[in-house]
Amino acid sequence: MVEKIKIRGGQKVSGKVQISGAKNAALPLLAASILSENELHLKNIPPLVDITTMLTLLENLGCSSLVTKNSMYANSVKLKTDGIGNLVAPYEIVKKMRASILVFGPLLARFGRCSISLPGGCAIGVRPIDLHIRGMEALGARIELKDGYVHAVAPNGLKGAEFEFPISTVTGTENILMAATLADGVTVLKNAAMEPEVVDLANCLNKMGANISGHGSKVITIKGVQHLKAAVHEVIPDRVEAGTYAIAAGITKGNVDLIGVNLRKLLPNFIEKMEQIGLIFSDIENGLRVQSSGEILPVDIETEPFPGYPTDLQAQCMSMLCIANGISTVKENIWENRLMHVAELLRMGADIAVCGTQAKVCGVKQLKGAPVMATDLRASFSLILAALVARGETVIDRIYHLNRGYCCVKEKFAQCGVVVDKIMWVGE
Ligand code: EPZ
Repeated sequence: MVEKIKIRGGQKVSGKVQISGAKNAALPLLAASILSENELHLKNIPPLVDITTMLTLLENLGCSSLVTKNSMYANSVKLKTDGIGNLVAPYEIVKKMRASILVFGPLLARFGRCSISLPGGCAIGVRPIDLHIRGMEALGARIELKDGYVHAVAPNGLKGAEFEFPISTVTGTENILMAATLADGVTVLKNAAMEPEVVDLANCLNKMGANISGHGSKVITIKGVQHLKAAVHEVIPDRVEAGTYAIAAGITKGNVDLIGVNLRKLLPNFIEKMEQIGLIFSDIENGLRVQSSGEILPVDIETEPFPGYPTDLQAQCMSMLCIANGISTVKENIWENRLMHVAELLRMGADIAVCGTQAKVCGVKQLKGAPVMATDLRASFSLILAALVARGETVIDRIYHLNRGYCCVKEKFAQCGVVVDKIMWVGE
């Protein structure tokens, strides 16, 4: 059975969407539970496939987790890691989700050794982990790559050190940050990632008794401590989900209230670009209102590390630019292969030319519904957005990508007057 999505074109978003907890904050937070034998209680965890994968990995290591459903959009998770007995993260689990690498730092810091399967690439790129490894070596770990695994030992524990990332890496920063909380001495991370999800992790670690400062800037200082204690932490809202629904309002020339998120702090450059395109933002109680001006103007987008335009909102914006009244350019600077949605948009009548990692998008009057295929998480939503405004019906295949990072899409769109049909397809 393959799950597909069928969408009739000509729909307009008009309503409100409750924004869930951030997937890319929840994943490192779940891994951080390994650092302490005391309970970590996380709230506002989104009910996503990637979260389930991380919980499966933690249980495989010997952690126990108690998941409580607080609403359709949010769970609470209580994690106990005093029962960890396995220090190997196996390929069968790691191959499903690259973020599994986030158990590397916590296992090494707490137990002095671990073996993590190399993640393998994924649709959007090779996605190496060389900077994770170099960071751990800077903290005194001895690393061996053998049989597709990273084998790491730090028999005398990790030692605080200074380490500069040659390029900004989100999970690389998160991994070394977590490892450094239990290192002996002071660690200074330079050219650290500044994403809000990194800040949320540091805030939670400080609640657990870590001693971290500078998070949210390019220089993070961590004074190692002996132990971390129990803590309760609420995950920040998902800025990528919020930005995605803002674009849904823009492309359908409708409006949406994004509830539970302050986007201006979480997506500064994105808001600026959306205003240039013709979206109007106004603050409302407990959220942000997004209204279309009735126009979709062309712009030039370049993805960059925070606070630049986020790569995770590149595909979604491209769909909207397909029907802008003019020519736009989209330059993907983070991932070498994150333009796979272009081929699918071309099937829907878009006019896009790609050269390397740059796309030139010439706006057309209208897209046409067609059978298309999701290639990765964010691309899957870009096809939904295109389908909402296409003439006729679109069926999107391989929709399992969507479920990894977006919860309750059918229900959230229903709150905005939009019908998205999930259909089961026998065979294939
Ligand atoms: C995080 O991935 C996010 N995932 C990604 O979101 C996001 O696209 C990415 O950051 C960039 O913002 C999570 O947080 C779980 P990176 P991550 O390390 O940490 C290169 C989504 O859609 N690099 O910041 O894996 C790498 O190849 C996902 O939710 C190295 O060369 O990304 C890339 O070009 C997709 N060596 C660049 O750095 C390394 O050791 C940025 O990657 C690590 C990274």
